Amino acid sequence: MAEEIVVIEGDGIGREVVPAAIEVLEAFDIGFEFVEAEAGDAVKETTGEALPAETYETVADADATLFGAAGETAADVILPLRDAVDSFVNVRPAKAYPGVDALRPETDVVFLRENTEGVYAGHEDRLSEDLSTLTRVVTSSASRELAEYACEFVEDGRGPDGRDGFTVAHKSNVMRETDGRFRREVLAVAEERGVDADEELMDAFATKLPLDPSGYGVVVCPNLAGDVLSDLAAGLVGGLGLLPSANVGHENGLFEPVHGTAPDIAGEGIANPTATVLSAAMLLEHLGYVEEGGRVRTAVESVLSDGPRTGDLGGDATTEEVTAAIVDRL
Ligand code: NAI
Ligand code: MG
Repeated sequence: MAEEIVVIEGDGIGREVVPAAIEVLEAFDIGFEFVEAEAGDAVKETTGEALPAETYETVADADATLFGAAGETAADVILPLRDAVDSFVNVRPAKAYPGVDALRPETDVVFLRENTEGVYAGHEDRLSEDLSTLTRVVTSSASRELAEYACEFVEDGRGPDGRDGFTVAHKSNVMRETDGRFRREVLAVAEERGVDADEELMDAFATKLPLDPSGYGVVVCPNLAGDVLSDLAAGLVGGLGLLPSANVGHENGLFEPVHGTAPDIAGEGIANPTATVLSAAMLLEHLGYVEEGGRVRTAVESVLSDGPRTGDLGGDATTEEVTAAIVDRL
């Protein structure tokens, strides 16, 4: 039976780039069943809820979800949606492409970010007028699950240039208990599975990555570190319009561009669809359509290199023209 894909355009350019990615998915005769659902600022204005219960349920039951972006309600939408797909890892590739002006053209790094705990687990308290605290959560089970995923990822040759190992970034010299546990469990799983793993203190990593990104391929991080370090890498490859991501769960997944609603260009039909199209490629691969996902990537790379290009990449093409060029290359 064909997979059910939930499609949430959301707000702003989400309404432009998600239809572009669907057009690319429809170029394959897979027969996906697309189900539209609503979330974001616009639905909140009419119903009072940024994430209707119906959307949450639909996403939880689907095989995969393609999400655009939400505006001011982003946190109220995306955090529960990651929960709806039971996502334990956030996969964030940052790759520089030929033809795109990048600060560090040799960058090709995939961050595997823990997606459920750390300082984002939501345990914040105001204890007095003067004092607020945050409890950081690290479990052996979540750390090991992330590490198992990282091992499979490199074993399957999905790392940049088919690299067969990964780097774990942590700060266990200071956060001895929590990052100590994270580091110990991740390295233990790598050793059990015979996968090469090295380690970096995350602050030193933040210096070394921009100086020489070619030294890194797959990077495994706790939640906050993965958020910050992957955004740092985004700065090296030139442009938010290029960066896809996957929230991978046990049964399903949520695929979304890293960018937001881009209110400055929304409605003009000039948004770069690349990040969302590459998110759709990750969706294909996640569902086992590896060859199709690879073909999407190749088509995108060819269009980035030869044009047409949208304004953020120095061109003057519309979203539709770039999408048509990608579909044409397929
Ligand atoms: P943004 O990513 O929407 O835009 C930042 C800059 O990048 C803008 O100049 C925009 O035009 C440009 N840009 C982003 N994506 C582009 C694309 N595909 N093509 C061409 N140019 C692109 O981030 P910003 O401005 O900080 O946030 C705008 C709104 O989006 C806010 O309401 C924020 O809450 C929301 N947001 C939602 C996210 C989500 O739903 N996952 C993530 C980030 C922000
Ligand atoms: Mg972020």
